[in-house]
Amino acid sequence: RSHPVHLHQKHLDFSSLQEIPDSHKWTQLDDIEQQHPSVESFITESVPVIDLSDPNILQNIGNACKTWGVLQVTNHGIPISLLESVEGVSRSLFSLPVQQKLKAARSPDGVSGYGVARISSFFSKLMWSEGFTIVGSPLEHFRQLWPQDYTKFCDVIEEHEKEMQKLARRLTWLMLGSLGITKKDLNWAGPKGESKEGGAALQLNSYPACPDPDLAMGLAAHTDSTLLTILYQNNTSGLQVLKEGIGWVAVPPIPGGLVVNVGDLLHILSNGLYPSVLHRAVVNRTKHRLSIAYLYGPPSSVQISPIQKLVGPNHPPLYRPITWNEYLVAKAKHFNKALSSVRICA
Ligand code: SIN
Ligand code: FE2
Repeated sequence: RSHPVHLHQKHLDFSSLQEIPDSHKWTQLDDIEQQHPSVESFITESVPVIDLSDPNILQNIGNACKTWGVLQVTNHGIPISLLESVEGVSRSLFSLPVQQKLKAARSPDGVSGYGVARISSFFSKLMWSEGFTIVGSPLEHFRQLWPQDYTKFCDVIEEHEKEMQKLARRLTWLMLGSLGITKKDLNWAGPKGESKEGGAALQLNSYPACPDPDLAMGLAAHTDSTLLTILYQNNTSGLQVLKEGIGWVAVPPIPGGLVVNVGDLLHILSNGLYPSVLHRAVVNRTKHRLSIAYLYGPPSSVQISPIQKLVGPNHPPLYRPITWNEYLVAKAKHFNKALSSVRICA
């Protein structure tokens, strides 16, 4: 293997650290994190919690997407036992010795595998987290990590993928439905495109307890390059979203709930009506936090552009057509300005 294993290891072995090394101290004032006030106790607004069995579902979802770009859902149909199984798998995975996890290290230009947060290269400081990304079948990586019982892990992950794919599709149509969009308004999802499965990736995140959480950053501020993201957090807080005019607002885990983020591609499809949410994860002094993100997007051959029905003389299209892959490339070039980089210049 050609990648510099010793470098990865230096960044990832948190268990031995009694204090925060300079490489992980987030104190510079030019970081986007510092441009907004941190969460204050007087903030009373919170991310909407939406029951998917509620008869007013479309209206509730529409309001949440428009004003927050994020919501929590309950009664979503994913068995809690399945979510807990994936949490268990993740826990076992992250508790392996660093040397062993590195056998599944993400290659320098790859997506799947173990390593630091993929957005790390856009920041001068390192984050207090490690992650494992799964695209498609996790078989190869898991075989290397658990030669004896990898099939058990693959089974759980595959079952989860099946269930989450269903929920992600349903949520996509609820969100688009709340804008008056139906399947016939989207050529890739209409009667002919129906069979095309959306693309997806699973991101397991681990945030070890941190001796000085105020100086560290679990996952730096970003929007998701997806249509939508479904996030499970175990019972430890850490997720924060940026609300215009307020600042960073905590999104505490609720029992059985899942967080749903509007991603950049839904932002583009909705011609900016549903803005993707800027979010980050902070860390904790005593508790190890886990989160599991299901990143959902369109089939890879499909070009995303503002839906025709939402465009008119008073609402010119704001974004040019772009595939998911092309968007990822654009974002890698213009990290914090990714959406503006696909804007149509008048
Ligand atoms: C993410 O943005 O991928 C994860 C956020 C979290 O851990 O809460
Ligand atoms: Fe995210």
